[in-house]
Amino acid sequence: MSEKDIKSSVQEMINRQTKKADQIIQADQTILQVTSLKKYYRQKNKRNVLVRSLDGVSFELGRGECLGIIGESGCGKSTLGRVLIGLEDATAGEILLDYEDIKEVKKRNRKELRRKAQMVFQNPFDTFDNRIRIGDILSSALKLHNIGSTAKIRKQMVLDSLKKVGLLPEEDYYKRYPNELSGGQLQRISILRSMLLKPEFIVADEPVSMLDVSVRAEVIHMLDDMAKKENTAVVFISHDIATTRYIADRIAVMYLGRIMEIGKANEVITNPLHPYTKALISNCGDADPRNKMKPLQVKGEPPSPMNIPEGCVFSDRCPYATQRCRTEEQTLHDFKENGHLVRCRFAMQHKENG
Ligand SMILES: Nc1ncnc2c1ncn2[C@@H]1O[C@H](COP(=O)(O)OP(=O)(O)OP(=O)(O)O)[C@@H](O)[C@H]1O
Ligand code: SF4
Ligand SMILES: [Mg+2]
Repeated sequence: MSEKDIKSSVQEMINRQTKKADQIIQADQTILQVTSLKKYYRQKNKRNVLVRSLDGVSFELGRGECLGIIGESGCGKSTLGRVLIGLEDATAGEILLDYEDIKEVKKRNRKELRRKAQMVFQNPFDTFDNRIRIGDILSSALKLHNIGSTAKIRKQMVLDSLKKVGLLPEEDYYKRYPNELSGGQLQRISILRSMLLKPEFIVADEPVSMLDVSVRAEVIHMLDDMAKKENTAVVFISHDIATTRYIADRIAVMYLGRIMEIGKANEVITNPLHPYTKALISNCGDADPRNKMKPLQVKGEPPSPMNIPEGCVFSDRCPYATQRCRTEEQTLHDFKENGHLVRCRFAMQHKENG
């Protein structure tokens, strides 16, 4: 790709984000409200040791909004995804889906929760039973949720949807078995199956990381397109900052089971405020040639979620840490009052000092 191409695709992305960001989170448009969410596991052989995988996560998600979740391995991204869609129960905290506690929705009707909250997993080859044809997989998802009154109607709905997402000829895909498809095709089927149910939100956990680089973009476009058309919210979990920046309206940066920074995608990437975000982004090699951020080096690996540091949880690795940081727990601050929140009370000082 030439520098001109990169510039124009970056500009297109910025225009798109600015337009979308203006539309997000009107008060009556909130679909998900997450408050002080915690998920603690007990170690298998050390029952008295707690793994604090999520340790107080709060955010809101607007209808049709895409929230990207980034952070190093083990920071709790997948745990958050599983708890959000009710695959696992939270240890504490609250998740309101369309203003109703998901615990209540789950108690009343698990099927209803499954229809409203869907997940796309990382490995499409693990998602399907190779003995069942694609058409039957998709039709049975519709039948299970009472969508389409007869088998004939359901078949037509499935054929139409295959056609709509460009899996052509649709009759051919309908008859194939999962092991007759490539990873990219299978992941598109996985997204299609989730979207057929018209969920309120989808968690996509590293949906393209196992796919060949050449097909990643088309799978991401398909997810983005379908979610936009249906006004479905997406929680997009990824290690890939450039892809997350492309698809997400906002980005949350996680570290040791908590959000360290959250804001509009473009703002978090081009103007990160937290030292951890700066380190993550400045070392990732961005596609935007205008990003000339000086690399910020941090020491070592993240601490274990079984042994979370006192005070600021990033203080062991932060190049700016002082004695105060090691004793004062940090909360999220909205310094600019624009919804760009950062868990470091000294963030603006460091910004001024470069
Ligand atoms: N069932 C479990 N029992 C004990 N610990 C768990 C369990 N599930 C997750 N963990 C721990 O919780 C922490 C967060 O795990 P999680 O899988 O959510 O991280 P992640 O951010 O998705 O990492 P990756 O980027 O590698 O996928 C890790 O330390 C992990 O070992
Ligand atoms: S509170 Fe201190 S240790 Fe934590 S991120 Fe800010 S400067 Fe670094
Ligand atoms: Mg994960």
